[in-house]
Parts: sequence; structure tokens; C-alpha cells
Amino acid sequence: MGMRIGVLTGGGDAPGLNPAIAGVVERASMYGHKVIGLKRGWEALSIKENKNHIVELGPEIIREYSRLGGSKLLCSRTNPVSEENDRTEMVLKNIKKLKLDALIAIGGDDTLGAGAVLSERGVPIIGIPKTIDRDLAGTEYSLGYDTALNVITDCAERIAQSAESHQTIFFLEVMGRHAGWLALRGGEAAFADVILIPEHAFTIDKLSDVLREQLETSTKIGFDHVYKIIVVAEGAHITGEEEVRKDAKIDDFGHYSLGGVGNYLKGLMEHRFRHTRYSALAYLQRGTPPSQKDRQIGRRFGHNAVEMLNNGDTGYMVAVQRSRLVKVPLAEVKNSPSLVDVDKYYDTDRLNVKIEWTDEAD
Ligand code: F6P
Repeated sequence: MGMRIGVLTGGGDAPGLNPAIAGVVERASMYGHKVIGLKRGWEALSIKENKNHIVELGPEIIREYSRLGGSKLLCSRTNPVSEENDRTEMVLKNIKKLKLDALIAIGGDDTLGAGAVLSERGVPIIGIPKTIDRDLAGTEYSLGYDTALNVITDCAERIAQSAESHQTIFFLEVMGRHAGWLALRGGEAAFADVILIPEHAFTIDKLSDVLREQLETSTKIGFDHVYKIIVVAEGAHITGEEEVRKDAKIDDFGHYSLGGVGNYLKGLMEHRFRHTRYSALAYLQRGTPPSQKDRQIGRRFGHNAVEMLNNGDTGYMVAVQRSRLVKVPLAEVKNSPSLVDVDKYYDTDRLNVKIEWTDEAD
């Protein structure tokens, strides 16, 4: 007898979610399992009237889902196990009502952290990791990172052409709440002049000194080289200051939205340098077709999740470790996030990626 598997995507969208759903459906069809899409993440199971949240997914979705960014199952930041509003009972009721044998939750530390709690309370769940920040504990890869990196690298190159024309100091803000991987590796690939990451607080004087020194060197190379690209992670901050918040809203998991640090730094630098500009890539990093890697890994994550269900291995997340697909206990997603090792990868003097020789390919 085939199983009925519920699939949901929670948290912020990331390129690779749809290919992962397609992978689940593809593998599930091989065993005669039915896949039920649960829309808007945990919300679908946390409310009573959820008719609009439920959709059956057959193999006909694979071709379309395999190539699309975002999530066709929609996302939300609903926390079904929050202390103020614990909806575990409703989740259990809905699982029964929909006759689901198991769930596959695709998300980051919040979505999968809630999954870990529900798993302890008896819900059979497999997790699939996603976050463009690539900071999820327990796995070396999470869906969306590769696509977002490609967007950053590409946009930094575009910005450089504009910055060159106007001889500008250009702040390019990218995502990365706690971890600076996107800024560090995107900036590295784009040969950014300065990279600012959450893991290393800096002073305005230090930033000015680095830029001034670089501008002097550039002037010596030639008049038309006098421009600078600074890739700054949204969570980067000045020593002794908080991160710059986009607004005062706080989500179900207690997080506030970050955004605007690039603009803030641009304002502070305006008084010291002639011409400064700012752009934030924001959601352009997400709502974009998944890269080859995010499609391939998403598909494989989906396949592995179904195989794990077949083996009765619930309470785990599909993960990448030492470049292999493995399973790790879901609860591990609540461990400390995987941050940039500043001593190893970041040059605090140049405020940039270390450019010492390395044999690491990634
Ligand atoms: O967690 C991933 C992430 O991309 C963070 O870098 C960012 O702070 C957050 O999502 C923003 O997401 P949203 O605006 O959808 O809440």
C-alpha cells in the first residue's frame, strides 16, 4: 500500500524548493505513494479551514516545478509550536483528517526546528535543508545558496560597470543575517574591493582607511580606475552597534527583518568621499530560476527523503556532509549556525576574503 506524504515549504523562499518538491513527487510515484502539497508552510496544518491550502501533486507537476524559483507551495513563517500559540493539537488533527502517513518539510532552522519539536511529539517527519545563507547546522549545503551566489556575482559585475563610469564607491547589500557566506564568496568571485560580513564588526575609521589606501593605489594605476565595490551582508555591523533593521516587525519565530546597512554606510561615507552609491539585491537573490546545482541537489534531496520514509527513518534531515548525502537528526538544525571562520577565511586588515594560497576548492 502506497503512503500519503504531505510536503510543505516554510520560511523565506529559496531557489531549489520547487525542484525538491518535483524530486519528492518523482520518487514517490515510483512506489505508488501519493504526495499532498500543503500550502504556506506550517500554516496549512495549523488552521482548521485549510481547504485552499491542500493540493494533490502528481507527476504532471515535475516538468514545471523543476525549473522554477520560489515555491509553488507558497511559504510562510508560521510557527506551529510557538509558546504563545502552540497548535500541536491542530497539526495532529489535520494530519489525521488528511490521512497523511508522513511529512516532508523543506525549510531552514525555524521550519525544521518546529519539525523537530513535532517529531518529538510523534509526527513522522523528514526535513530537507534550504536557506540561501548556507548557515544551517548539520549540513554543508542548503538549497538556494548556489543560485543566490550566482546572482550576487553577476550583479556585482554589473554594478562595477556603472561604478566605473561614475567613479563611485558602491555599496552592494546582499542577504546574510548571521553568516557572511554569500557576501564572502560572492564578493570573492566578483573581486570585490571590500567585503563586510556579520562575523567581523568594523569601525568606520577602518573602512575609510582601507578605501583611502585602495583609492590611492587605483589613482596610480590610472584615472579611470578610481571606483570601489563593497559587498556588504545585511547582518554586517559597526563595532558596538546593532544590525540595521528594515522595520520594527517581528515574525512568529521572534526575528526582526534586517536591511539597509548598505545605505547607512553610504550615508556615513558621503562625508568622507566624493561620490557614493548603494543598491540592495534583496529578493532578487531568491526569486530567480534555480541554478543547475540547486536543481540537481533539490531533486536528489527529494529522492532521498522518500527513500528515508520508505525505510521508516523519520525524525531526520537529508544533509550533505563531506560531499555525500547523509541523514542527521532533525534536532541538529537547532545547533549553532555554520558561520564564516574569520581566522581561516577573512582578512580583518584588508576587510576582504583571505587571498593566501589554499587547496580548498569551495
Ligand atoms: O534566512 C534567509 C534570509 O535570506 C536572510 O538572509 C534574511 O534575513 C531573511 O531570509 C529575510 O527574509 P524575509 O524578508 O522573507 O523575512
